[in-house]
Amino acid sequence: MEQEELPVENPPTGAELYAEYAELRAENPVSRNEGEPWRVARYEDVRHVLKAHADFSSEVSQRMQEDEDRTPTMLFTDPPAHDRLRALVSRAFTPRQVAAQETQIEERCERLMLNLASKSRGDLITEFAAPLPVGVVATMLGVEDGDFVQFKHWSDTIFTNIGEILIGTPSEAAVQAGGEMSAYFLERIGRLRQTPGSHLLSDLVYVETAEGHLTDGELLMFCFLLLIAGNETTTSLIVGCVRIFHDRPDLFDRLKLSPDLIPGFIEETLRYHSPFRATLRKARRNLHLGGQDIREGDLILPLIASANRDDRVFDSADRFIFNRQPNPHLAFGLGIHSCLGATLARMEGRLAVESMLRHLDGLSLCDPEMPELDGFGAPASVGVELRPSG
Ligand code: HEM
Repeated sequence: MEQEELPVENPPTGAELYAEYAELRAENPVSRNEGEPWRVARYEDVRHVLKAHADFSSEVSQRMQEDEDRTPTMLFTDPPAHDRLRALVSRAFTPRQVAAQETQIEERCERLMLNLASKSRGDLITEFAAPLPVGVVATMLGVEDGDFVQFKHWSDTIFTNIGEILIGTPSEAAVQAGGEMSAYFLERIGRLRQTPGSHLLSDLVYVETAEGHLTDGELLMFCFLLLIAGNETTTSLIVGCVRIFHDRPDLFDRLKLSPDLIPGFIEETLRYHSPFRATLRKARRNLHLGGQDIREGDLILPLIASANRDDRVFDSADRFIFNRQPNPHLAFGLGIHSCLGATLARMEGRLAVESMLRHLDGLSLCDPEMPELDGFGAPASVGVELRPSG
């Protein structure tokens, strides 16, 4: 029997997405469609929701709460449980420990970019922007080279199903990948308790404060959290940089001449093409926000990408100003859940751009109209035309 084809809704392009956000900020700063979470569009309201954790809970994942065996990740936990996890994990995530990874990340960028820059056309995602952060997280977790392909497969399978994993029913493939990855890391955590290694996971096994040690379940959840929080976001940041280079080849030349401008360029890319488009909260009580009555238990979607284009805060918010000062964007969130990997992500972004500038005279997108984001993450494939430097 012939199957009827279902209509497929194309994800919005950047222009469509940001036009919709502009309309929300102007007309409906806090609004919702029937049966969906409240969308919060203006900067000040998004900032407030992120900061006021006593009113807006991060315990949004129904599945996590229903499943008693599951240790919640810090991203979906409120104080006091969050305070304990964050205090323990932060100890192994200091600027000094991040800086110590620079050489290894630079070498990884160099290897991937040399390969990509050897041709005139390539896939930015599969050949550079995805393997880079997955490799960085794998190194942090002590995954050996021989296990890398397996780890990348788990990571891809889990991330493509992340929405369902958090608030729905995950696919069989995702359940299987999750089970295999849990068994792999539990075995490694057991070995690390006998013999320490020299990577973040090992540091976390041994970290001890007045809060005590991390349990096996908490360590395992942290492995999953790094996959969820650290990979697709960093991939999207690199794609954002390349979108800018496509639109503004003059900036590529400018950064080549003045690499000291790269950190400011990365900050503006984080604002302009926010990789973490929105996060989720749940109202802890009946409250008032942006003229709306929110009921206890309602879900709320602070639209970080919209806040970052709010011209109440950013002059000419829809213009990319590579040396914008100040730039108080919310791309890494704010308050108690603000991104723990921000220093690392900024470094990965900088090193990725430096390697492009070293090996290329420019690069452009094959399809400039591609969607801004695909579901929760970066597109699976982004064709680029490359102009290797002579
Ligand atoms: C450009 C890249 C990145 C962006 C834009 C980003 C953005 C964010 C945002 C917005 C949050 C807060 C979410 C919320 O409040 O609900 C967050 C939390 C977090 N991020 Fe990132 N992130 C990036 C890269 C990374 C990396 C590379 C890592 C680690 C390898 C990481 C680890 C974390 C962790 C552990 C949390 C949870 C913090 C907590 O709950 O206390 N992130 N990130």
